[in-house]
Amino acid sequence: MLYSNIEIHDGRLFFAGVDAAGLAKKHGTPLYLFDEQKIRENCRKYTDALKACACPNSAAVYASKACCFAGIYKIIAEEGLCADLVSSGEIYTAKKAGFPMERAYFQGNNKTDEDISFAIDCGVGYFVCDNFEELEALDEIAGKRGIRQKILLRVTPGIDPHTYDEVATGKVDSKFGIAIETGQAIEAVKLALSKKNLELEGVHCHVGSMVFDSDVFFRASDVMLGFIKEIKNICGFEAKTLDLGGGYGVKYYEGQGEIDISANIKAVAEHIAEKSAELEIKTPSLRLEPGRSIVADAGITLYTVGSVKKITGYKNYVSVDGGMTDNPRYALYGSKYTVLTANKADKEASLSADLVGRCCESGDIIQPDVKFPADIQRGDTVAVLTTGAYNYSMASNYNRVARPPIVIIDGGKDRVAVKRESLDDLIKNDVI
Ligand SMILES: Cc1ncc(COP(=O)(O)O)c(C=O)c1O
Repeated sequence: MLYSNIEIHDGRLFFAGVDAAGLAKKHGTPLYLFDEQKIRENCRKYTDALKACACPNSAAVYASKACCFAGIYKIIAEEGLCADLVSSGEIYTAKKAGFPMERAYFQGNNKTDEDISFAIDCGVGYFVCDNFEELEALDEIAGKRGIRQKILLRVTPGIDPHTYDEVATGKVDSKFGIAIETGQAIEAVKLALSKKNLELEGVHCHVGSMVFDSDVFFRASDVMLGFIKEIKNICGFEAKTLDLGGGYGVKYYEGQGEIDISANIKAVAEHIAEKSAELEIKTPSLRLEPGRSIVADAGITLYTVGSVKKITGYKNYVSVDGGMTDNPRYALYGSKYTVLTANKADKEASLSADLVGRCCESGDIIQPDVKFPADIQRGDTVAVLTTGAYNYSMASNYNRVARPPIVIIDGGKDRVAVKRESLDDLIKNDVI
């Protein structure tokens, strides 16, 4: 099978050792399922490789944007990861879940004064500062609170990861960070160093997502180490930390490329250590911010089929009870997925149809041109694999559709981690 947590027994799909269609009956659909041991295994790929790597005191920072709910913070805290948080909402969730906030990194290209104050009050360990205005505002607010705030400075190394434009963030013309090439990044470093309430720890970049090209982090680290050297020469300041962001790719379908994350981390860290020696700078500690590769293959989504529409001579549709509200990724990026019929998993898949949702949008397609068993019908359970990242966190209430629950499976037992939204939840802020 494509994934180690997917098996088929007696024609039924088992996820993390549990009958998927049975869970669909028990919890209803649409339903997000997560495999806790897979999340932990994915975390350890990073923590083990970073602990043993050539850059001292290195650490992994879970990018919460991939999937944020209270229960995930207990898992990543236990696994020793830090957390990348991009909004007051993510900060609040992590804090309420008991996450050690000194291990939190506050990211984002537009932090409001309220966000900054809230993050400081919550004890966020680091700010990843994105622009000049933020440096000024943070210095002022930190000063009023009588603290010195640790920061990293986000810069753009001018690297094209050759993945998708929507997720390429490290190019010079990106809305994120400050460009090295234009000379603006060194000015931002000077500004940060001049602020008495800011403590610059190092530099940050993120080149993009779905990276399979093992060379991308080598190229990014070359540019970033060159910049660290420039900072040393011009400002006499030696950066302690180099954060290369997230971005390792994940396998969504058979035949897709793969990258050995542990081996790549080891090689990138060795490269950083060698290059640092060459440049006569201290080897910085390395931070990586994986999101997708922690949760994507730890999640699947289950749906119930409502109709099978065969438009004679044209095309076929299998409609389910979710759609772009719980998984907007095909609509946004044309993302590919593997789809199985959970209660007919061993039947020959001979019917070609688009798997579509229930929203009033023709673009509400979960996956086009899927192969289903010829007898697929209303009531069958469809499973879309690898939906753990950027599904729940991107879900919406379009058409006032309630968001599905999250159920975590561990040791053959299932537990609700996020409840299904009720109709009352949907109108709770409406003034009636
Ligand atoms: C700054 C930053 N860090 C980490 C990530 C996580 O990337 P991924 O989920 O591809 O690992 C992102 C994703 O956009 C990001 O913007």
